[in-house]
Amino acid sequence: MNKAEIIKNYKKKIENFKKLNEAYYDKNKPLITDAEYDSIKFELLQLEKKYQYLKDEFSPSNTVGFKPSKIFKKITHKEPMLSLSNAFDEKDLENFEQKILNYLNKTKEFKIEYSAEPKIDGISASLTYIDGNLTRGLSRGDGKIGEDITGNLKTIKDIPLQIISNDIPKEIEIRGEVFIQNSDFIKLKNKFANPRNAASGSLRQKESEETKKIPLRFIAYTYGYEKGLKDKNQSDFLKSLSKWGFKINPLNKVLMGIDNLTKNYNEIEKKRSEIDFDIDGIVYKINDFELQSRLGYVANAPRWAIAHKFSSDKATSQLLDIEIQIGRTGALTPVAKIKPVNIGGVVVSNATLHNEDEINRKDIRINDTVLVERAGDVIPHILSVDLSKRLNDSKKYKFPNKCPSCGSKIIKEFNSAAKKFDAVRRCSSEGYDCDKVAIEKIKHFISKEALNIDGFGKKIVENFWKLKLIKFPQDIFKLDYNKILNLEGWGKQSINNLKFSIEEKKTISLEKFIYSLGIRHIGLEGAKLISKHVKTSHNFSNIAKDENLKDLENLDGIGEMQIKSIKRFLSNKTNKKIVQDLQKILKINDVKKISSKGRLMNKTFMLTGKLTNMSRSEAKHLIEQNSGSIISNVSKKLNYLIIGEKPTKRKVDLAKELNIKILNQSEWLKMLN
Ligand code: IVH
Repeated sequence: MNKAEIIKNYKKKIENFKKLNEAYYDKNKPLITDAEYDSIKFELLQLEKKYQYLKDEFSPSNTVGFKPSKIFKKITHKEPMLSLSNAFDEKDLENFEQKILNYLNKTKEFKIEYSAEPKIDGISASLTYIDGNLTRGLSRGDGKIGEDITGNLKTIKDIPLQIISNDIPKEIEIRGEVFIQNSDFIKLKNKFANPRNAASGSLRQKESEETKKIPLRFIAYTYGYEKGLKDKNQSDFLKSLSKWGFKINPLNKVLMGIDNLTKNYNEIEKKRSEIDFDIDGIVYKINDFELQSRLGYVANAPRWAIAHKFSSDKATSQLLDIEIQIGRTGALTPVAKIKPVNIGGVVVSNATLHNEDEINRKDIRINDTVLVERAGDVIPHILSVDLSKRLNDSKKYKFPNKCPSCGSKIIKEFNSAAKKFDAVRRCSSEGYDCDKVAIEKIKHFISKEALNIDGFGKKIVENFWKLKLIKFPQDIFKLDYNKILNLEGWGKQSINNLKFSIEEKKTISLEKFIYSLGIRHIGLEGAKLISKHVKTSHNFSNIAKDENLKDLENLDGIGEMQIKSIKRFLSNKTNKKIVQDLQKILKINDVKKISSKGRLMNKTFMLTGKLTNMSRSEAKHLIEQNSGSIISNVSKKLNYLIIGEKPTKRKVDLAKELNIKILNQSEWLKMLN
């Protein structure tokens, strides 16, 4: 990249960073996790370090947060509320200490005393006490200007309204963290993404009465400015805070030497899941206030303190139980129920164990202390067991030999291609005989790629099933709406909407119909191939006849395994009945010979964002049916970019740059007439 490109790329990243800040600080609706945010911020800082000419008003090195929101009065902090620099490993800590020694002109013999304080992942707040009375409470805002949230802060029980003590300074601004305990967060789980968002959202309610309903807590840890403070170091100051009636972190310690800091860090990281609030690292502060003031500040952070962050994708927790989940194909997947633990801003309480072999290989047992990883979009999983913490009476986990839902025998299938038995165990019952499998099959039937019924989600399937409103897919079209009207959360309007969406999806392509049946080994591609081959739904029901199946063998993409599976599916009585009933209820469109001279001939399309009333696969199908083709990258080969709701900005920008025609959904549909 040349200089111009580097600047352009940097500015683009800054724009994105600005949006993230706006969403987080101004609208209280973070777009990404804290860990992802940290990594974007880190990337920008690295770029600025590498290319000194990069700078911007909104660079993370300039701004602490974002402008405060408009609801509350803005007030300038008497002392800015700064952030902390981060350390990620022992080396970073050594550098931190060395820099301090250099600055103070001391040798290694000079032993520095630190106040080591677990860093609570909440929302910082500033409380001004004059003559012991709480006069003002501010949020951090952008670090320079905060919001006046006195009323809301006063509702928090841990915040004393008045301090009666002979040594409280005449004036002092005390700072600390507002947070929600994990056990309290569980009750609010449906409203917020994580405890931190819950704290931030509750703290910035317009009405204090609303804030009061939320079990917010406060832990104090520093001061902004003071008149008349007698303490000479941080650990004594923490003791004073406690004496004045504040809660302080029970895990605070005074330590010396990087070795001891690391030891304490490791111990606390392991204990993380036992602590009832989220901590995302340990803050080390030079204990002596005089040394602190000599060291002063760099940019936005003090030179005398650093935050040693915990890994943002791993955490230790306790395995409470192993639950067996049953999938649509009868596969039994063991899931670890773990003590909830915050990993990179997300509270994790489930981790996949993949299959029986995985449990045996890692010898994972109930009650074990386990290391859990959650990275990117991957489902959290268990990396290892801490054997030193294993209980004496612990027993090897025994995988069930009967289906926990229907009691049927469990089988391991022989994979003829791989010439070995599958690692996965399955319930041997035929589809709808096993309740759990049946529910999953119906979920598949209504899923996005299948019928895609608006407003009919997985939770509704589970609920309707429990209430015996549905047992088979066809029951969806015969719902007893009078019964539903009496259910909690349903009203006339929502029922009308549901009726409408169900009615709307009665017309379906043959390909989708085949896919929606959830035949094992027949995915979207397979269903497409079969539908092109059989052309009508009538032919499809006759496919199980041997001579027809033989024909299928010639299709590229359909093999022996698929054919066996279709045969097995259609020879089952229940399945046959489902197909017959659905054929009566649905209008299944025959496959028309695709015209090679369709309206979209020789045109390439790409989709980004969510379309209205149409799934991605439906849109693709429409394009292909009209002789257009889909491509998966924005490049010069692309003729049209179709944008739905919340399109990917990068794709749109690139399309603009390459002069590619951008269409919204209705413009595109017009093209199709
Ligand atoms: S001291 C300049 N002490 O961490 C000193 N901060 O990234 C900064 N935090 O905004 C504050 N626990 O929200 C300090 N024991 C602790 C802390 C702590 C959590 C948060 C606080 C601050 C952020 C800095």
